[in-house]
Amino acid sequence: MNIRFDEENRLFVIDTENTSYVIGILGEEGFLGHLYYGDKIEFEDAPYLYKLPQNLNVPEPSMRDRSSFLDCYPFEYTSNNVGDYRKSGIEITDDNGHTSLQLCYESHEIYKGKKKLEGLPATFGEDTGTMSLDIVLKDSVVGLNAILTYSIFEGLDTVIRSVKLINESNKNIFIDKVMSMTMDMDQEDYKLLTLYGSWARERMMDFRDIGYGDTSIESFRGESSHQFQPFMALVQNGDSQDTGKVYGFSFVYSGNFEAGVCKSQFNSIRMYMGIGSKNFRWKLKKGESFQAPEVVLTYSSEGLGKMTRTLHDLYRSHLIRSKYKDMERPILINNWEATYFDFDSDKLLAIAKEAKNSGIEMLVMDDGWFGQRNDDNSSLGDWFVNEDKLKGGLKKLVDDVNAIGMKFGIWMEPEMVSPVSKLHEEHPDWAIQVPGREPCRSRNQYVLDLTRKEVRDYIYGRIKDILTSANIEYVKWDMNRQLCDLGSLGLAADTQGELSHRYMLAVYELQERLVTDFPDLLLENCSGGGARFDAGMLYYSPQIWCSDDTDAIERLKIQEGTSLIFPLSTMGAHVSDCPNHTVGRTTPFKTRGDVALAGTFGYELDITKIPSNDREDIPRQVAVYHKYNHLVRGGDYYRLSSYQRNHEMDAYMVVSKDKKEALITYVKVVASPNPARKILKVPYLSKDAIYQIEGSDIKVKGSTLERVGIVLPSLNGDYQSELIHLVAID
Ligand code: GLA
Repeated sequence: MNIRFDEENRLFVIDTENTSYVIGILGEEGFLGHLYYGDKIEFEDAPYLYKLPQNLNVPEPSMRDRSSFLDCYPFEYTSNNVGDYRKSGIEITDDNGHTSLQLCYESHEIYKGKKKLEGLPATFGEDTGTMSLDIVLKDSVVGLNAILTYSIFEGLDTVIRSVKLINESNKNIFIDKVMSMTMDMDQEDYKLLTLYGSWARERMMDFRDIGYGDTSIESFRGESSHQFQPFMALVQNGDSQDTGKVYGFSFVYSGNFEAGVCKSQFNSIRMYMGIGSKNFRWKLKKGESFQAPEVVLTYSSEGLGKMTRTLHDLYRSHLIRSKYKDMERPILINNWEATYFDFDSDKLLAIAKEAKNSGIEMLVMDDGWFGQRNDDNSSLGDWFVNEDKLKGGLKKLVDDVNAIGMKFGIWMEPEMVSPVSKLHEEHPDWAIQVPGREPCRSRNQYVLDLTRKEVRDYIYGRIKDILTSANIEYVKWDMNRQLCDLGSLGLAADTQGELSHRYMLAVYELQERLVTDFPDLLLENCSGGGARFDAGMLYYSPQIWCSDDTDAIERLKIQEGTSLIFPLSTMGAHVSDCPNHTVGRTTPFKTRGDVALAGTFGYELDITKIPSNDREDIPRQVAVYHKYNHLVRGGDYYRLSSYQRNHEMDAYMVVSKDKKEALITYVKVVASPNPARKILKVPYLSKDAIYQIEGSDIKVKGSTLERVGIVLPSLNGDYQSELIHLVAID
C-alpha cells in the first residue's frame, strides 16, 4: 500500500495490495487525467500510460482544437460548459448567472491517516495502515476550489474518494450538482450491474448493456430507497464469482443519489456517483465549503466474489463503529408480525416468557406503544407511553421482561408526524411542506422538518427521555415514508434546494447524538423494511432490517442482493410464521431458520400461538445460531449458486478466515421428479487441509472438494434446506 507522486512526470500512483490507480497532471494548465485503474503495475512504468491514447495530447498553444481535446480527454473529475460535452459531474452557477467551470491542478498533499468528513458517515482507519491524498483543483475565474480526496487501507483493494468544494470568491456560488466521483475509462465489454427493487423485494440484481449515452439509476425519494441501491458495478463476465474484471462503486450516503455510466462517441465511458441533483441547489457563501459524501471504489480481477469479500472486510473493519459489530447479537423476538397494533403488556409478557423458555434473549416491542396508536393512522410524534396498553408504564414492562431474564428493545419512528397527533396540532409548521399546498400523505403520515434545530432538539429530547426511563438495550429506528413537497419554513427561498441533503445531515446528527449518549445501545435501522439499507446507515447501526418480506424463499433473493455488498452480520433476518404474511407461502420451519441464520437472526411471530412442533424446534435453532454465528459474522462469504438466477436452488458458504471451518447453506426451492444428483464444486477451502463433513464419516482434501465437489443431499419436497458443516481435521 502506498501513495506516491512522480515529480518529474507529474503522476500520482495509488497502490493497494493488488491494484494501481494512476492520475496524471497534463500540460501547462494542469488538466487532471484518469490514466489507469486496475491490476497493479510497476511505479516505474506509470509514465508509459502517457504514451497510450492519442487524446492525452494537450491542446496546441493556438487553442484551435481545444474542444476536441476536452471532449475526449479522460478526466479524473469533470468541469462544466467549457468544451467537454459529455455528462458533467459538477454544475455551478456563479454570481453572474454563468455556469462555466474549468477545474485544474493547483496543489496536493499526501499524508498518513484519513480526515473525518464533517457531519457525514465515512470510513475510518488508524494513521498506521491508512494513507490519503488530497488534490486541490482550482477555477480562478469563478473562485472555486475542489479538493479531491483519495484514501486507502492496508490489505484492502479499495480506494475511497470524496470531493470538497470551497468558495474562494467574494460572492455566492450555487452548487447545482456535485458528484463525489467521476471516472473516465475505456469500455471493454463491461455490463452494468445495479440493484433495483420495491417494498418487500429489495435489491434484485440487474445486468444491462452499456449503450451510447447515459445509463443511470437514482433516488430522489429522500432516502437511498427500495427502488435502487446506491451501488453499481462494471462487470466483464456477468455474474461470475471468480473470473473477469469488476469495478464496484458503493456510496456511503443514505439520501438522494444518482449514479451511472455515460458512453461517448469514442467508446469511452464516464462513471459517476454522488448526491442526487434533482431538486438540489446549495448556496455556498464566500469562504464556505461543501463536503460531498464518499464513494468506495473497488477493483477485482477475480469476478464478483472478490468484490463482495473486499467490501465486507472494508465495512466490517473501517465503517461500522458499534461495539456490537464483532459480537454475537442477542436473539430477539419482535412482536410486529405477532400482534401488529393489537397488544398490551400481558400479551408481550406471555410472549417473553415463552421465548425465554426457548432460549431467545430479547423482546422487541414494535409499533403501537405510544399516543393513541392503535393503527397506522395516528400518533407519530406523540412519544408518550400508552398506559392503557402498557399497564403501569414502560418501566414496569421493561422490569418485568428483565425479571423473566430477557433484554428489552423498542421501536421508534422519530422522523415522522401523523396529521392526527398532538405534536401536529401544536406544531403544524414542523412538517415538511410547501405553503398553500396540502402535503402529500403516505401511510397517513408527514415527514418532520429535521432541518430545523428546534424540531431536532425536541425529537431527540423525546428519544432520550424514553431511553432513560427504563432499561432499554435496543432501538429499531424506522422511517416509513419517502419525502416530497420539499419545502421548509426554516429555509430562505434561495436555500430551499438544500432541504433533502440538510434532512439527511439532520438524521445523521440525531443518530450520532444517540450512539454517543448511549454507547451500549444496539441500534437497528429500518425503513419500511430495507429502504435505507446503505453504507451510510452502517456507520451508526451495525445492523439494518433487510426487508418486510420475511418469507424464506423471497429472502434468498433479497439477502443475495444485500450480501453482494454488505456483510451478513448487518442483515436483519427473522423467522416468521406461516402462511407468510407478505406472500402467503408456507415453508418448513427449519428452512425459515436456516435462511435467517445468514443474518442477525431472530423471531417475528407469536410464539404462544405457533404450532407446537415449530415451537419445540426453536431451542435447536437457537443452538445452531450460537454454534455458527462466529462464522457468519466474521467469515469470508462465497456465493455458490443463485436462486435469483437459476429459479431452482440457492447455496452460499461462509469460511473462517483461517479456512479451518466452513458452513454451506443449501436450499432446494423447487422439487423435481426423479432428480439427477447435484454436485456442488467447493473451490474456496484450503487445498491441503483435510475436511470432515460433520455428521458423516467423510474426510476429504480441500483440493478434492475443489475439483470434484460434494454431492448435495437429496431433499424431498419444495423449500427444503440443509446446513453442511466442514471442519479441517488436519
Ligand atoms: C415498518 C417496518 C416493520 C414494522 C412496521 C411498523 O414497515 O419495516 O418491521 O416495524 O414498520 O409500523
